[in-house]
Amino acid sequence: MFKTVEWKGSAVRLIEQGKLPLKEEYTDYTDYKQVASAIERMVVRGAPAIGVTAAMGAALAAKQNKAEDHEGFFKEFEHALQTLEATRPTAVNLFWAINRMRVCAQESRGKPVGVIKDKLEKEALLIYEEDLAINQKMGENGAEVLEDGDTVLTHCNAGALATAGNYGTALGVIKMAHQQGKKISVFADETRPWLQGARLTTWEMMKEEIPITLITDSMAGHCMKKGMITKVIVGSDRIAANGDAANKIGTYTVAVLANRHNIPFYVAAPMSTIDYELSHGDLIPIEERNYNEVTHIMGQQQIAPDGISVFNPAFDVTPNNLITGIITEKGMAIPPSTENMAKMRES
Ligand code: MRU
Repeated sequence: MFKTVEWKGSAVRLIEQGKLPLKEEYTDYTDYKQVASAIERMVVRGAPAIGVTAAMGAALAAKQNKAEDHEGFFKEFEHALQTLEATRPTAVNLFWAINRMRVCAQESRGKPVGVIKDKLEKEALLIYEEDLAINQKMGENGAEVLEDGDTVLTHCNAGALATAGNYGTALGVIKMAHQQGKKISVFADETRPWLQGARLTTWEMMKEEIPITLITDSMAGHCMKKGMITKVIVGSDRIAANGDAANKIGTYTVAVLANRHNIPFYVAAPMSTIDYELSHGDLIPIEERNYNEVTHIMGQQQIAPDGISVFNPAFDVTPNNLITGIITEKGMAIPPSTENMAKMRES
């Protein structure tokens, strides 16, 4: 089994997601600046995986912090946290994980610097372990909505590669239903421009021996009209308090199509992806990425004329009225209204 992210004591080991599925390569990132750059360059991607990796990056920053006095330690540590936070703006798991590391350090403020470093390492490992357990629970909760014979369309990659590992979120629900003996098949949108569906979701599902068919993004409507899709499940990078959900660009299009064809559309995400501070999805910051992701295929083959104007938002927001239910480790919000989202938080 591959490992998405691994703590190696003095390095964070990441699978090179930009090289999959042609090469399965791992790199040890030995300082927090390298970790920040790996998140920014999408060596590691997917909201929970970004959070876990950033927490490990913070633990690495603390370990390598040379300051002997508290003031110096905290100043340097905060600078590292802010560097990690500046990598990707939409996935709220990044800010959630970094903040856990910040609070962990502050709670030990009176202790010797060496003790604070140990506590931070333990906290990063706890975030990692918790993510694995949360995804399994989410899979169990979500598997209920899948029936024997379902064909599920998914967009982007919300699997083990997008989390600490093993199950994942949307793909975790599918894997769990499959393990329960239900006959489930999957359709993956290729997910332009970074091709997470074509490269990563296909790879993961084939490893699990779950039947998978790859389509281009523009084929989803046709497949739905032909009755080839019975459910849609996607992940999310940030969900507002009313259940509006940001996910990979193109998700909104899939949700509109699912609605037109009366196909249930679910979002699976951990509670750490819900930003209860934001009342609705228009407040979610949307990352815009480099034009060359659109003009070139995987940074290699140029497909558009030099000098073309490009718009490259990495995410879009699906309003709650297009979402049948939000699946988390705590249960499901069906439908995902402000009231039901609040109830799920308190449960
Ligand atoms: O740009 P990416 O690849 O980080 O975007 C990832 C997604 O949009 C995923 O669907 C989302 O993070 C959920 S991952 C469990």
